[in-house]
Amino acid sequence: MSAAEFRAVSQVFGDFTAVDAIDLTIPDGKLTTLLGPSGCGKTTSLRMLAGYLSPTSGTILVGGRDCTTTPPEKRNLGMVFQSYALFPHMTVADNVGYGLKLRRTPRAEREARVTEALEMVGLAHLAGSRPKQLSGGQQQRVAIARAVAIRPELLLLDEPLSNLDARLRLQMRAEIRRIQAETGLSVVLVTHDQDEALEMSDQMVVMKDGRIQQQGSPQEVFPAPANRFVAEFLGYENFIPTNDALLTVRPEHLLVDPDGVASDGATSGGVSLPGRVTDLAYRGVDVLVTVEARAEASGDPVRLVADLRATTAPDLRVGGDVRVEAAPGHVVPLPAG
Ligand SMILES: Nc1ncnc2c1ncn2[C@@H]1O[C@H](COP(=O)(O)OP(=O)(O)OP(=O)(O)O)[C@@H](O)[C@H]1O
Ligand SMILES: [Mg+2]
Repeated sequence: MSAAEFRAVSQVFGDFTAVDAIDLTIPDGKLTTLLGPSGCGKTTSLRMLAGYLSPTSGTILVGGRDCTTTPPEKRNLGMVFQSYALFPHMTVADNVGYGLKLRRTPRAEREARVTEALEMVGLAHLAGSRPKQLSGGQQQRVAIARAVAIRPELLLLDEPLSNLDARLRLQMRAEIRRIQAETGLSVVLVTHDQDEALEMSDQMVVMKDGRIQQQGSPQEVFPAPANRFVAEFLGYENFIPTNDALLTVRPEHLLVDPDGVASDGATSGGVSLPGRVTDLAYRGVDVLVTVEARAEASGDPVRLVADLRATTAPDLRVGGDVRVEAAPGHVVPLPAG
Protein backbone atom coordinates (compact mmCIF):
# COMPACT_ATOMS: atom_id res chain seq x y z
CA MET A 1 0.00 0.00 0.00
CA SER A 2 1.13 3.54 -0.64
CA ALA A 3 1.61 5.99 2.21
CA ALA A 4 -0.29 8.72 0.36
CA GLU A 5 -1.70 9.54 -3.02
CA PHE A 6 -2.59 12.66 -4.98
CA ARG A 7 -5.25 12.05 -7.61
CA ALA A 8 -5.71 14.89 -10.10
CA VAL A 9 -5.08 17.41 -7.32
CA SER A 10 -5.17 21.12 -8.19
CA GLN A 11 -4.81 24.28 -6.16
CA VAL A 12 -6.03 27.50 -7.74
CA PHE A 13 -5.51 30.90 -6.06
CA GLY A 14 -7.75 33.44 -7.81
CA ASP A 15 -6.87 32.95 -11.47
CA PHE A 16 -3.45 31.44 -10.72
CA THR A 17 -3.00 27.68 -10.81
CA ALA A 18 -0.30 26.84 -8.26
CA VAL A 19 -0.72 23.06 -8.53
CA ASP A 20 -2.11 21.68 -11.76
CA ALA A 21 -3.86 18.30 -11.63
CA ILE A 22 -0.98 16.30 -10.17
CA ASP A 23 -1.09 12.53 -9.80
CA LEU A 24 1.48 11.27 -7.35
CA THR A 25 2.01 8.17 -5.25
CA ILE A 26 4.10 8.46 -2.08
CA PRO A 27 5.53 4.99 -1.43
CA ASP A 28 5.37 3.45 2.02
CA GLY A 29 8.53 3.45 4.13
CA LYS A 30 10.55 5.44 1.60
CA LEU A 31 11.93 8.96 1.31
CA THR A 32 10.33 10.96 -1.48
CA THR A 33 11.59 14.41 -2.43
CA LEU A 34 9.63 17.14 -4.20
CA LEU A 35 12.25 19.06 -6.16
CA GLY A 36 11.84 22.22 -8.18
CA PRO A 37 12.56 25.95 -8.40
CA SER A 38 10.98 28.58 -6.19
CA GLY A 39 7.26 28.98 -6.82
CA CYS A 40 6.72 25.62 -8.57
CA GLY A 41 4.15 24.48 -5.99
CA LYS A 42 6.16 22.33 -3.57
CA THR A 43 4.95 23.91 -0.32
CA THR A 44 1.40 24.16 -1.66
CA SER A 45 1.42 20.43 -2.42
CA LEU A 46 2.79 19.62 1.03
CA ARG A 47 0.22 21.86 2.76
CA MET A 48 -2.58 20.09 0.91
CA LEU A 49 -1.16 16.73 1.94
CA ALA A 50 -0.95 17.91 5.56
CA GLY A 51 -4.47 19.32 5.47
CA TYR A 52 -3.66 23.01 5.99
CA LEU A 53 -5.07 23.78 2.56
CA SER A 54 -8.02 22.12 0.80
CA PRO A 55 -7.45 21.17 -2.83
CA THR A 56 -9.53 23.15 -5.32
CA SER A 57 -10.19 19.81 -6.98
CA GLY A 58 -8.94 16.24 -6.80
CA THR A 59 -8.54 13.64 -4.08
CA ILE A 60 -5.85 13.05 -1.46
CA LEU A 61 -5.47 9.64 0.16
CA VAL A 62 -3.39 8.96 3.26
CA GLY A 63 -2.83 5.32 4.13
CA GLY A 64 -5.51 4.36 1.61
CA ARG A 65 -8.19 6.58 3.21
CA ASP A 66 -9.72 9.57 1.47
CA CYS A 67 -8.45 12.49 3.54
CA THR A 68 -9.28 15.30 1.13
CA THR A 69 -11.37 17.17 3.71
CA THR A 70 -9.83 15.79 6.92
CA PRO A 71 -8.35 18.53 9.17
CA PRO A 72 -4.58 18.38 9.89
CA GLU A 73 -4.89 17.21 13.51
CA LYS A 74 -6.84 14.14 12.37
CA ARG A 75 -4.30 13.06 9.73
CA ASN A 76 -1.54 11.79 12.02
CA LEU A 77 1.18 13.50 10.01
CA GLY A 78 4.32 15.12 11.39
CA MET A 79 5.35 18.32 9.69
CA VAL A 80 8.44 20.50 9.79
CA PHE A 81 7.65 23.84 8.20
CA GLN A 82 9.88 25.84 5.85
CA SER A 83 10.58 28.38 8.59
CA TYR A 84 10.92 26.04 11.53
CA ALA A 85 9.31 27.90 14.37
CA LEU A 86 10.02 26.44 17.77
CA PHE A 87 8.11 27.99 20.66
CA PRO A 88 10.77 30.29 22.20
CA HIS A 89 9.27 30.38 25.69
CA MET A 90 9.14 26.57 26.01
CA THR A 91 11.97 24.21 26.80
CA VAL A 92 13.24 21.82 24.16
CA ALA A 93 11.37 18.97 25.86
CA ASP A 94 8.10 20.93 25.94
CA ASN A 95 8.51 21.82 22.28
CA VAL A 96 8.97 18.17 21.38
CA GLY A 97 6.03 17.14 23.58
CA TYR A 98 3.71 19.81 22.22
CA GLY A 99 1.91 17.62 19.66
CA LEU A 100 1.47 14.86 22.24
CA LYS A 101 -0.05 17.31 24.70
CA LEU A 102 -2.50 18.47 22.02
CA ARG A 103 -3.43 14.84 21.52
CA ARG A 104 -3.91 14.43 25.29
CA THR A 105 -1.29 11.71 25.52
CA PRO A 106 -0.91 10.74 29.22
CA ARG A 107 2.01 12.40 30.95
CA ALA A 108 4.17 9.32 31.53
CA GLU A 109 3.91 8.17 27.95
CA ARG A 110 4.50 11.73 26.75
CA GLU A 111 7.74 11.97 28.71
CA ALA A 112 8.92 8.61 27.40
CA ARG A 113 8.23 9.57 23.81
CA VAL A 114 9.88 12.98 24.18
CA THR A 115 13.01 11.31 25.53
CA GLU A 116 12.94 8.77 22.73
CA ALA A 117 12.55 11.46 20.05
CA LEU A 118 15.31 13.60 21.54
CA GLU A 119 17.63 10.59 21.75
CA MET A 120 16.92 9.87 18.12
CA VAL A 121 18.24 13.30 17.10
CA GLY A 122 21.06 13.21 19.66
CA LEU A 123 19.78 16.04 21.86
CA ALA A 124 18.56 14.33 25.03
CA HIS A 125 21.11 16.33 27.04
CA LEU A 126 19.51 19.61 25.95
CA ALA A 127 15.95 18.75 27.01
CA GLY A 128 15.83 21.61 29.53
CA SER A 129 17.33 24.28 27.25
CA ARG A 130 15.45 27.05 25.45
CA PRO A 131 15.52 27.22 21.64
CA LYS A 132 17.60 30.43 21.62
CA GLN A 133 20.41 28.62 23.45
CA LEU A 134 20.72 26.16 20.55
CA SER A 135 22.54 26.36 17.23
CA GLY A 136 20.57 26.40 13.97
CA GLY A 137 21.26 22.72 13.39
CA GLN A 138 20.19 21.80 16.90
CA GLN A 139 16.96 23.78 16.52
CA GLN A 140 16.36 21.98 13.26
CA ARG A 141 16.77 18.66 14.98
CA VAL A 142 14.35 19.70 17.72
CA ALA A 143 11.79 20.54 15.02
CA ILE A 144 12.29 17.07 13.53
CA ALA A 145 12.03 15.44 16.97
CA ARG A 146 8.78 17.35 17.55
CA ALA A 147 7.35 16.03 14.28
CA VAL A 148 8.52 12.46 14.94
CA ALA A 149 7.33 12.35 18.58
CA ILE A 150 3.68 11.90 17.62
CA ARG A 151 4.69 8.74 15.70
CA PRO A 152 3.19 9.99 12.46
CA GLU A 153 2.22 7.82 9.52
CA LEU A 154 3.97 10.28 7.29
CA LEU A 155 6.67 12.85 8.02
CA LEU A 156 6.56 16.01 5.90
CA LEU A 157 9.67 18.19 5.79
CA ASP A 158 9.57 21.52 3.93
CA GLU A 159 13.13 22.60 3.07
CA PRO A 160 14.31 21.53 6.53
CA LEU A 161 17.97 22.21 5.77
CA SER A 162 17.82 25.54 3.97
CA ASN A 163 18.74 27.62 7.02
CA LEU A 164 21.89 25.66 7.77
CA ASP A 165 25.44 26.26 6.63
CA ALA A 166 26.90 23.95 3.99
CA ARG A 167 28.74 21.57 6.33
CA LEU A 168 25.83 21.16 8.71
CA ARG A 169 23.49 20.65 5.79
CA LEU A 170 25.54 17.67 4.59
CA GLN A 171 25.58 16.24 8.10
CA MET A 172 21.82 16.68 8.51
CA ARG A 173 21.13 14.99 5.15
CA ALA A 174 22.77 11.87 6.51
CA GLU A 175 20.98 12.27 9.82
CA ILE A 176 17.53 12.47 8.23
CA ARG A 177 18.36 9.41 6.13
CA ARG A 178 19.38 7.58 9.27
CA ILE A 179 16.18 8.54 11.13
CA GLN A 180 14.13 7.48 8.11
CA ALA A 181 15.90 4.12 7.90
CA GLU A 182 15.68 3.49 11.67
CA THR A 183 12.00 4.31 11.95
CA GLY A 184 10.89 3.02 8.55
CA LEU A 185 8.80 6.19 8.30
CA SER A 186 7.40 7.41 5.01
CA VAL A 187 8.96 10.82 4.46
CA VAL A 188 8.21 13.59 1.97
CA LEU A 189 10.96 16.17 1.84
CA VAL A 190 10.73 19.40 -0.17
CA THR A 191 13.90 20.91 -1.58
CA HIS A 192 15.08 23.11 -4.42
CA ASP A 193 18.58 21.60 -4.19
CA GLN A 194 19.20 18.89 -6.80
CA ASP A 195 22.22 17.47 -4.93
CA GLU A 196 20.12 17.08 -1.81
CA ALA A 197 17.39 15.30 -3.79
CA LEU A 198 19.87 13.01 -5.53
CA GLU A 199 21.63 12.11 -2.30
CA MET A 200 18.56 11.59 -0.13
CA SER A 201 15.75 10.27 -2.30
CA ASP A 202 14.36 6.83 -2.84
CA GLN A 203 11.98 8.58 -5.20
CA MET A 204 12.38 12.09 -6.57
CA VAL A 205 9.60 14.14 -8.11
CA VAL A 206 10.67 17.08 -10.27
CA MET A 207 8.12 19.91 -10.50
CA LYS A 208 7.76 23.04 -12.60
CA ASP A 209 4.85 25.51 -12.71
CA GLY A 210 2.61 23.27 -10.62
CA ARG A 211 3.16 20.21 -12.77
CA ILE A 212 5.22 17.07 -12.34
CA GLN A 213 7.94 16.91 -14.97
CA GLN A 214 9.45 13.57 -14.04
CA GLN A 215 9.53 11.10 -11.19
CA GLY A 216 11.62 8.07 -10.36
CA SER A 217 14.66 7.02 -8.40
CA PRO A 218 17.74 9.25 -8.69
CA GLN A 219 19.38 6.42 -10.65
CA GLU A 220 16.51 6.55 -13.14
CA VAL A 221 16.07 10.31 -13.40
CA PHE A 222 19.66 11.57 -13.39
CA PRO A 223 20.98 9.71 -16.45
CA ALA A 224 17.76 10.14 -18.44
CA PRO A 225 16.10 13.51 -17.87
CA ALA A 226 12.68 13.62 -19.54
CA ASN A 227 12.99 17.11 -20.98
CA ARG A 228 15.19 20.17 -21.19
CA PHE A 229 13.87 21.68 -17.96
CA VAL A 230 14.76 18.59 -15.91
CA ALA A 231 18.11 18.30 -17.69
CA GLU A 232 19.04 21.92 -16.92
CA PHE A 233 17.86 21.58 -13.35
CA LEU A 234 20.13 18.54 -12.90
CA GLY A 235 23.17 20.32 -14.33
CA TYR A 236 23.22 19.29 -17.96
CA GLU A 237 24.62 22.39 -19.64
CA ASN A 238 25.14 21.41 -23.24
CA PHE A 239 22.19 21.32 -25.64
CA ILE A 240 22.93 20.40 -29.22
CA PRO A 241 20.15 20.62 -31.81
CA THR A 242 20.15 17.98 -34.55
CA ASN A 243 17.66 17.37 -37.33
CA ASP A 244 15.29 15.27 -35.26
CA ALA A 245 16.18 15.71 -31.59
CA LEU A 246 17.87 17.83 -29.00
CA LEU A 247 20.94 16.16 -27.54
CA THR A 248 22.29 16.93 -24.12
CA VAL A 249 25.62 16.02 -22.50
CA ARG A 250 26.95 16.82 -19.06
CA PRO A 251 30.05 19.07 -18.96
CA GLU A 252 32.10 16.29 -17.34
CA HIS A 253 31.29 13.96 -20.24
CA LEU A 254 32.58 16.20 -23.02
CA LEU A 255 36.10 15.70 -24.31
CA VAL A 256 38.06 18.45 -26.00
CA ASP A 257 40.60 17.38 -28.58
CA PRO A 258 43.09 20.05 -29.64
CA ASP A 259 44.17 18.09 -32.71
CA GLY A 260 40.68 18.37 -34.10
CA VAL A 261 40.59 15.09 -35.99
CA ALA A 262 37.11 13.58 -36.15
CA SER A 263 36.78 10.20 -34.47
CA ASP A 264 34.06 7.75 -35.37
CA GLY A 265 31.94 8.87 -32.38
CA ALA A 266 29.74 11.09 -34.52
CA THR A 267 28.54 8.33 -36.79
CA SER A 268 27.57 5.92 -34.00
CA GLY A 269 25.33 8.09 -31.80
CA GLY A 270 28.03 10.18 -30.15
CA VAL A 271 28.81 13.86 -30.59
CA SER A 272 31.75 15.23 -32.55
CA LEU A 273 31.72 18.90 -33.46
CA PRO A 274 34.41 21.33 -34.59
CA GLY A 275 34.74 24.53 -32.62
CA ARG A 276 36.98 27.17 -31.07
CA VAL A 277 37.91 27.67 -27.43
CA THR A 278 36.46 30.94 -26.10
CA ASP A 279 37.26 30.61 -22.40
CA LEU A 280 39.36 28.59 -19.99
CA ALA A 281 38.52 28.73 -16.28
CA TYR A 282 40.93 27.01 -13.93
CA ARG A 283 39.15 25.75 -10.81
CA GLY A 284 41.79 23.70 -9.03
CA VAL A 285 40.67 20.13 -9.56
CA ASP A 286 38.91 20.97 -12.83
CA VAL A 287 39.27 23.22 -15.83
CA LEU A 288 36.09 24.55 -17.41
CA VAL A 289 36.55 24.90 -21.15
CA THR A 290 34.02 26.92 -23.14
CA VAL A 291 33.90 26.18 -26.84
CA GLU A 292 31.92 27.87 -29.56
CA ALA A 293 30.96 25.01 -31.87
CA ARG A 294 28.63 24.74 -34.85
CA ALA A 295 25.57 22.52 -34.96
CA GLU A 296 25.86 20.00 -37.75
CA ALA A 297 22.26 20.31 -38.88
CA SER A 298 21.82 24.08 -39.04
CA GLY A 299 25.34 25.45 -38.82
CA ASP A 300 24.11 27.60 -35.93
CA PRO A 301 26.61 28.39 -33.19
CA VAL A 302 26.34 26.23 -30.05
CA ARG A 303 28.09 27.12 -26.83
CA LEU A 304 29.51 24.04 -25.14
CA VAL A 305 31.10 23.73 -21.71
CA ALA A 306 33.44 20.87 -20.89
CA ASP A 307 34.53 20.14 -17.34
CA LEU A 308 37.95 18.49 -17.62
CA ARG A 309 40.17 17.14 -14.87
CA ALA A 310 43.06 19.59 -14.62
CA THR A 311 45.61 16.78 -14.35
CA THR A 312 44.51 15.12 -17.59
CA ALA A 313 43.35 18.16 -19.59
CA PRO A 314 45.13 18.62 -22.91
CA ASP A 315 47.08 21.78 -23.63
CA LEU A 316 44.43 24.25 -24.74
CA ARG A 317 44.49 27.98 -25.45
CA VAL A 318 41.75 30.53 -25.95
CA GLY A 319 41.24 30.97 -29.69
CA GLY A 320 42.52 27.48 -30.54
CA ASP A 321 40.59 25.21 -32.89
CA VAL A 322 39.41 21.98 -31.30
CA ARG A 323 37.00 19.12 -31.74
CA VAL A 324 34.47 18.47 -28.99
CA GLU A 325 33.34 14.90 -28.53
CA ALA A 326 31.13 12.76 -26.36
CA ALA A 327 30.75 9.00 -26.37
CA PRO A 328 27.32 7.62 -27.36
CA GLY A 329 26.60 6.40 -23.81
CA HIS A 330 26.87 9.95 -22.50
CA VAL A 331 24.57 11.57 -25.04
CA VAL A 332 20.95 11.92 -23.88
CA PRO A 333 18.30 12.65 -26.52
CA LEU A 334 15.50 14.97 -25.39
CA PRO A 335 12.22 15.78 -27.09
CA ALA A 336 12.92 18.84 -29.29
CA GLY A 337 11.48 22.21 -28.23
N1 LIG B 1 -2.18 31.61 -0.32
C1 LIG B 1 -1.75 31.93 -1.55
N2 LIG B 1 -2.40 32.85 -2.29
C2 LIG B 1 -1.97 33.14 -3.56
N3 LIG B 1 -0.90 32.59 -4.15
C3 LIG B 1 -0.23 31.68 -3.46
C4 LIG B 1 -0.60 31.30 -2.12
N4 LIG B 1 0.27 30.35 -1.70
C5 LIG B 1 1.15 30.15 -2.71
N5 LIG B 1 0.85 30.95 -3.77
C6 LIG B 1 1.57 30.98 -5.05
O1 LIG B 1 1.63 29.67 -5.56
C7 LIG B 1 2.88 29.41 -6.16
C8 LIG B 1 3.52 28.20 -5.52
O2 LIG B 1 3.88 28.53 -4.19
P1 LIG B 1 4.64 27.50 -3.26
O3 LIG B 1 4.80 28.15 -1.93
O4 LIG B 1 3.96 26.20 -3.32
O5 LIG B 1 6.04 27.40 -4.01
P2 LIG B 1 7.36 26.57 -3.59
O6 LIG B 1 7.61 25.61 -4.70
O7 LIG B 1 7.20 26.03 -2.23
O8 LIG B 1 8.48 27.71 -3.65
P3 LIG B 1 9.73 28.01 -2.64
O9 LIG B 1 10.85 27.12 -3.12
O10 LIG B 1 10.03 29.44 -2.90
O11 LIG B 1 9.30 27.75 -1.23
C9 LIG B 1 3.70 30.69 -6.00
O12 LIG B 1 3.62 31.42 -7.20
C10 LIG B 1 3.01 31.41 -4.88
O13 LIG B 1 3.14 32.80 -5.03
MG1 LIG C 1 8.13 26.45 -0.43
